[in-house]
Amino acid sequence: MFETLDAVLADAAAHLTRAARDRKSPMHVPVVGTGDGDLRMMVLRACDPDIGLLRFHTDARSPKARQLGSHAVASVLAFDAEAKIQLRVKGSARIECAGPVADAAWAASSPYARRCYLAVAAPGSPAERPMSGLPEAVEGIRPSEEQLLPARENFAVLVIEPVSLDWLYLAHDGHRRAQFTRGGAGQDWQGTWVIP
Ligand SMILES: Cc1cc2nc3c(=O)[nH]c(=O)nc-3n(C[C@H](O)[C@H](O)[C@H](O)COP(=O)(O)O)c2cc1C
Repeated sequence: MFETLDAVLADAAAHLTRAARDRKSPMHVPVVGTGDGDLRMMVLRACDPDIGLLRFHTDARSPKARQLGSHAVASVLAFDAEAKIQLRVKGSARIECAGPVADAAWAASSPYARRCYLAVAAPGSPAERPMSGLPEAVEGIRPSEEQLLPARENFAVLVIEPVSLDWLYLAHDGHRRAQFTRGGAGQDWQGTWVIP
C-alpha cells in the first residue's frame, strides 16, 4: 500500500490538508508542543499542499504565545485511528499578531470564534469562581461587530514552518515508518524509511 516515500509524503499531506478544512477529520485538533515541554490541543486552521506552513489561532496573551514569541521550535502530533497513521511534525514557529496572515484569519473567523478573544484577562489568569472571563454583555450571545472590535488586539496566529516529519503506519503484517526533513521553508522534503 505504501511502497514509496513519495506515496508516504502524499499521504501525510493529504491527512494534514484535510484536517485543516474538515472538522470531522481525526487530525483536525492535533496536540501542539512547545519548547518548555508543555502540550495542548489546537484546531489546525490551514496547511498548504507541501506541508510548508501550518496555521493555528490563539490568544496573544496566552502562555504559549509568550513562550513562542517571534522565533521558536514547536511540534505537532496527530493520529488517525481509522487509517492507523501517526504524524509528528517539528518546525520553526512564530506568533503573528498583525500582518496579512493574522488579518485574513481574523476576517474569516465567525463572531462566536472571535468572541473568545474578548476575555478580560489573559488565558490562565486566576479566577475567583468558575467563569468564561468574557464581559457579561457578550456572554451567551452572538456579539455584534462593534462589540468585537476590542478583541482583535488579543488575537494571534501561530505559524509553524515544518522542517521534519515522522510518519508511522500501524499494520498487522508489519508497521511502516518514514522520516522526512527539509533544509527550510520552500525546500524539498528528503525522506528515508526507518524501523518502526
Ligand atoms: C478540542 C480543543 C480545541 C482547542 N483549540 C484551541 C485553539 O485552536 N487555540 C487555542 O489557543 N487553544 C485551543 N484549545 C485550548 C488549549 O488546549 C489550551 O487549553 C489553551 O490554549 C491554553 O494553552 P496554554 O496555557 O498553553 O497557552 C483547545 C482545546 C481543546 C480541548
